[in-house]
Amino acid sequence: MFFRKLNNEIQLSLSIPQYAEELFILTDNNRLYLKQWLPWLDTIVNPSDTLVFIETQLLRFQKGEALHVTIFYQNKIAGVLGYNLIDQVNGIGYAGYWLGQEYNGNGIMTESLKDLIHLGFTYYSLNRIDIRCAVDNHKSRAIPERLGFQQEGIIRKAENVYGKHLDHVVYGLLKEEGRY
Ligand SMILES: CC(C)(COP(=O)(O)OP(=O)(O)OC[C@H]1O[C@@H](n2cnc3c(N)ncnc32)[C@H](O)[C@@H]1OP(=O)(O)O)[C@@H](O)C(=O)NCCC(=O)NCCS
Repeated sequence: MFFRKLNNEIQLSLSIPQYAEELFILTDNNRLYLKQWLPWLDTIVNPSDTLVFIETQLLRFQKGEALHVTIFYQNKIAGVLGYNLIDQVNGIGYAGYWLGQEYNGNGIMTESLKDLIHLGFTYYSLNRIDIRCAVDNHKSRAIPERLGFQQEGIIRKAENVYGKHLDHVVYGLLKEEGRY
């Protein structure tokens, strides 16, 4: 397990089973909010579902396939981010993230993603970090744009979010472009 203290308010930690209960409560309290953009909410019904998810991510972490990180803001779980997939052959990390609605607007995700980028380029030997956002998800798109990612294209009907087939914008940051 690791902790990374980003400042007096934000701390990152590898997601571990002990966080399942609190992370489930945050997920449950933000269910409708998150459903606007994330397709997996109906698979998380009980705290045990969050527990199984974290355990699965830890097994993938062990194999270098993924990195799931819990964000603490003022010592409470505020959201998560990570590499949903680490493509070791091509050196690509596919990043994803979400915050509870009450934690929006403080720069928490931008700061956390900076650190994830640093981890990816430094410890995972990534050449590229890839972020995909729904075209209309302006708050999500603002994060890679703020951090110097290039917009590379649009994938049409990339994701089925409760029956809506959303187009995605692809953002990429290369190792030689990374400032973090
Ligand atoms: C996407 C999501 C994480 C963005 O959250 P966010 O709070 O806007 O992002 P940040 O934590 O980086 O904060 C940026 C906001 O804080 C403000 N801010 C305050 N201090 C800041 C700082 N030090 N640095 C950067 N931004 C700061 C920014 O101005 C911005 O506010 P604005 O949108 O009103 O301009 C959040 O909306 C979310 O979880 N949405 C639902 C799930 C989702 O869409 N996930 C992504 C799927 S691709």
